Amino acid sequence: MTDLLLVTDLDQTLIGDDTALINLNELLDEKRQKYDTKIVYSTGRSLELYTQLNKEKALLSPDALMTSVGTEIYFHPIKDNFDLKWANYVSENWDREAVFSVASHFADLVLQPLSEQTPFKVSYYLSESIAQEVIPRLKTDLAKKKLDTQVIYSASYALDILPKNGGKGSALQYLRNKWKIAANQTVVCGDSGNDITLFQGEERGIIVANAKSELLQWYYQHQTPFRYLAKQPFAQGILEGLHYFGFITT
Ligand code: GLC
Ligand code: MG
Repeated sequence: MTDLLLVTDLDQTLIGDDTALINLNELLDEKRQKYDTKIVYSTGRSLELYTQLNKEKALLSPDALMTSVGTEIYFHPIKDNFDLKWANYVSENWDREAVFSVASHFADLVLQPLSEQTPFKVSYYLSESIAQEVIPRLKTDLAKKKLDTQVIYSASYALDILPKNGGKGSALQYLRNKWKIAANQTVVCGDSGNDITLFQGEERGIIVANAKSELLQWYYQHQTPFRYLAKQPFAQGILEGLHYFGFITT
């Protein structure tokens, strides 16, 4: 039986304090050797930028990896294990060209690098000062063209447009179903807007202390006993939350 499925965001959640990362890694590695603990990284990065990060930081090799905000899933060993079944599901009713064409009429949206324009994700930079005015207009224009999408704004700079079926939360539910792991054996961790869907189920949630305003605001509006706002940032906050939920007892 799997004792713990840990699904964590990378930038500013697992990553941010190298010493805390090493401590948490040690503990998780030990847990994984003794029990059937599964580790999943859930990132906004493309596979290309994840691979870069993996060279720079001491990451464990995950049992699964969600890239490009949950629109792609890879299983261990990551290199040759792209999940085609997930990709087929995510691609339903997604018209990338049409989405791109609507968004390209917005002069305030600045296209992110090519590496971050992936089959099921179109990404821009958008400054915070105009975001509240631009996002509703973008959503209206997408709806007018009957493009059923998700518009996600993170960390006061990044705007992603995803297929309706994509996102970190739905990828998490897909993995839980596949591996048959209960919500109360699952812990999700995050710091920003693209993590909100991870927290929408009944999984145990850890929000690190350095979380961005959009996630904090969501947290305060949706408080439940199974969501925990850590007092400490980054991997130290994850450790604190794992203690809080009783997944670590030492
Ligand atoms: C990562 C991705 C970027 C995305 C952001 C928020 O930084 O590289 O494309 O917009 O996450 O999801
Ligand atoms: Mg993050």
